[in-house]
Amino acid sequence: MERLDKILAGTGRWSRKEARELIRAGRVAVNGATAAAPEGKYDPAASFTVDGEPVSGQRLVYLMLHKPAGVLSATEDPRQSTVLDLLPPHLRRVGLFPVGRLDKDTEGLLLLTNDGPLAHRLLSPRHHVDKTYFVRVQGRITREDVELFAAGMTLRDGLVCLPARLEPLEGEGEALITIQEGKYHQVKRMMASRYMPVVYLKRLSMGPLVLDETLMPGSWRPLTPAELAALAAL
Ligand code: URA
Repeated sequence: MERLDKILAGTGRWSRKEARELIRAGRVAVNGATAAAPEGKYDPAASFTVDGEPVSGQRLVYLMLHKPAGVLSATEDPRQSTVLDLLPPHLRRVGLFPVGRLDKDTEGLLLLTNDGPLAHRLLSPRHHVDKTYFVRVQGRITREDVELFAAGMTLRDGLVCLPARLEPLEGEGEALITIQEGKYHQVKRMMASRYMPVVYLKRLSMGPLVLDETLMPGSWRPLTPAELAALAAL
C-alpha cells in the first residue's frame, strides 16, 4: 500500500505537490470513488482516474539486465526460464517486459521496462536505433563481407536488410556488427547468408544504453539518471 500522492507522482506525470492539489480538488478517483486525501493509502495496482481519465498507478521501472544464455526473452513460459525469473518477486509484478528479444542462446544487454511508449520508440524501425553486437562466427570475415553489409543486403532467405556496419576484430571470426533493425534471428541470418554460422552472440549496446560490464550474466541494475535522460532524449 502506498500514499495516493506518491502513487500519482510515481507515474512521472505530476510532481508530488501537483498530485496533492489534484487530489484535494476532488479530481482523482480510486476504483471509481473520489479520493480527497493525499495521504490515503492504496494498492498501486488499483484503478486510478484523474478527471475521469485512467492513469496507471504502477511506477515506471527501467532495468538493465545482462541476459545470460539459456533463458527466454519472454515474460512467461510454461516450461522454460524467462528473463523475469531472474528478478526478485516484487519486480515480477510490475508489468515489466523485455524491449526486443534476444535469442535463447544470445547474451548481453536487455532493457526491461513497463514503459510501453519508450519500448515502441526504441523498437520502431523509423527511429533507427543502433544495436551493436559482438559476434563470433565459423569462418573468416572478409572485406567483401564488410562492403556487402554496408550496402544493405538481400539475404539468401529473402530478407532485405538496411545497411549495417561490420567491423572485424583481431580474433579470427570475431567482429562487431551494428544494425538498426531487429528482425527474427537477424544477425545469424546475415552471417549465414555469407556462409558463416554464428557460434557466439552478445549484445553490447542499444541506442545510448551500453552494457555495464560490471554486471555478471544473469544480474541487473536500475538504469542511472544519465541513462534515463539519454533514453528520454531519443
Ligand atoms: N540477431 C540474432 O540473430 N539473434 C539475436 O538474439 C539478436 C540479433
